Amino acid sequence: MQKRIRVNQLRVGMYVEDVEIGGKAGAQRFTPFLISSPSQVERMMASHVMTVVIDIVKGVDIHPSTRFLAASGRAGFDAKLLAMFAASDIRQARQCIEETKPHIRRVLADARIKASFDSEAASSAVERIMSTAFNNAGALIAVAKLKEKDEVTFLHSLAVSALMITFGRFLGHREEDVRVFGLGGLVHDLGKMALPDAILTKSGKLTAEEMDLVRRHPQLGYELVSSVEHTPREVLDICRYHHEKYDGTGYLGRLAGKTIPYSARIAAICDVYDALTTIRPYKQAFSQAEAINMMMTSPGHFDSHLLSAFVSKMVIGGPLR
Ligand SMILES: [Fe+2]
Repeated sequence: MQKRIRVNQLRVGMYVEDVEIGGKAGAQRFTPFLISSPSQVERMMASHVMTVVIDIVKGVDIHPSTRFLAASGRAGFDAKLLAMFAASDIRQARQCIEETKPHIRRVLADARIKASFDSEAASSAVERIMSTAFNNAGALIAVAKLKEKDEVTFLHSLAVSALMITFGRFLGHREEDVRVFGLGGLVHDLGKMALPDAILTKSGKLTAEEMDLVRRHPQLGYELVSSVEHTPREVLDICRYHHEKYDGTGYLGRLAGKTIPYSARIAAICDVYDALTTIRPYKQAFSQAEAINMMMTSPGHFDSHLLSAFVSKMVIGGPLR
């Protein structure tokens, strides 16, 4: 039985079936192996591998201690938040999430059930996120890190939107442009709503056919969002190109460098940052330092100037500190 885990969950005794680098399946010549020493774990941690597929019949499962995260996770998470932010900031962030929830749920449900884009609900959500992100971005992004099973899509959309609003603001963009970034962040993965649940929730390794389907979500999202007149070009670009990589090895268009629209290069950074730092009740997340380190050492994935700006403006002394 296969299970996909983060590289920081590796331990001696696990049987590694495959590796994924930034969501991309490993090279075909990858040879499965049993981890027999701590140095092998260290080597994997130091590599560019982000996700690993293990076989828990041929080797051991994730560390039993991580199973207890569910019991102590919420309390531990809350204590950590309180050590970093004022209680009033955390309350304000939670209130923002609660008030945004119905709007985002409507956007997601419309995409799934009616294959349509509720741009009014999306705009309402972005206005609410903007009002909190402008003075309380750190707490909002931190609170959205812990994602329960049914909250993953909703909170990922909200977090990427908040990250793009905050990053856009730190990059010196005007409020209208920042609002557009926020909308793009909110709907960047809307195309996933057109995919079967079985694929989205599958914990084992995806087959080649399933992977092909998943890789169509940027195009599906683009088609969905472009059905509404006057959707800003940047929002369409974010949907369509957020999985492109700077070196031209991403998908769908295999665009490279500055031919990838600017807004999509920003979205790629915010999307991967949130995915890496997301905490789930039964899974450990990468720490912020680990996530940034992995992103900085993923050659060719991101626009290095924008990534440096993300680190200097958002992380070092910024709202993600
Ligand atoms: Fe995506």
